[in-house]
Amino acid sequence: MNDVLDGVRDHYRATGLTERLKTALAALGPEDQQLTPQQLAALDQFHTRGLPATAELAKLAGVTAGMSVLDVGSGVGGPARFLAATFGCQVTGVDLSEAFVGASRYLTERTGQSGQVSFEIASALELPFDAGRFDVVLLQHVAMNISDRTRLYREIRRVLKSRGMFAIFDVVRKDGEPHYPVPWARTPATSFLLTAAATRAAIEPAGFRTLAWHDDTEAAKTWFGQLFASGPPPSPNLGVVMGPDFAQLAANLGRNLMEGRVGVLTAVFEAASVNS
Ligand SMILES: C[S@@+](CC[C@H](N)C(=O)[O-])C[C@H]1O[C@@H](n2cnc3c(N)ncnc32)[C@H](O)[C@@H]1O
Repeated sequence: MNDVLDGVRDHYRATGLTERLKTALAALGPEDQQLTPQQLAALDQFHTRGLPATAELAKLAGVTAGMSVLDVGSGVGGPARFLAATFGCQVTGVDLSEAFVGASRYLTERTGQSGQVSFEIASALELPFDAGRFDVVLLQHVAMNISDRTRLYREIRRVLKSRGMFAIFDVVRKDGEPHYPVPWARTPATSFLLTAAATRAAIEPAGFRTLAWHDDTEAAKTWFGQLFASGPPPSPNLGVVMGPDFAQLAANLGRNLMEGRVGVLTAVFEAASVNS
């Protein structure tokens, strides 16, 4: 299991990321100029369909002002910053990658949101929070890296309040082996895809009731189709975060979707009250 976590950490090692971001962001203005979450969206929304997908998921989960939200596997913090700016909630992000958490804190200073958004290095399997702390937990394009789903979903249920919301946006297995490398894994050794049905079967026994269930595969295919047709993406983009092979990783995800090997799932669950 530690071998798996080490492999995942290695995939998102991103050595020197904050320095690379400083250099890349010079294209958007001087260091002391405040940036908006929207300006960073091409490099800090690390999932299919980018910012619109985060906005839709947050709406589906019913995020509102004053809520306490946890983003598990927060990447470089784009979803957390967007949620705080859009809904006025407090957001905490946790991520396994030290470089990503360092970059998240730097980018959050650049958007002037450090009072509302914070990040910690931690495993999703061992969340450093008391029980019942959060109103909403988000998990976007992270479960694919986690083999012990029973523990993952139990841990998320533990930190949620009773009747709290758990919103997921995941790549799921469909028909056949995916082509690697993909954005979450350069080899199958750190990729743990489940089917949509198996994902639900793992989540509900952890103490959740399904409220929304949506196959997002066609929207993801359309998005990839437009992305590939429009040529190289604007800079700076996720290539700064993941390195020069990111275009190939993204192309393989698009190909896996088009060939029906993987799909994309959006779902929202309510945490059952402890007595029910
Ligand atoms: C594809 S990125 C998605 C990032 C973010 N959720 C987003 O949508 O922008 C996957 C993230 O999950 C994190 N991750 C993977 N396994 C994890 C674990 N066991 N605990 C915490 N974070 C994990 C990775 O470090 C990476 O930042």
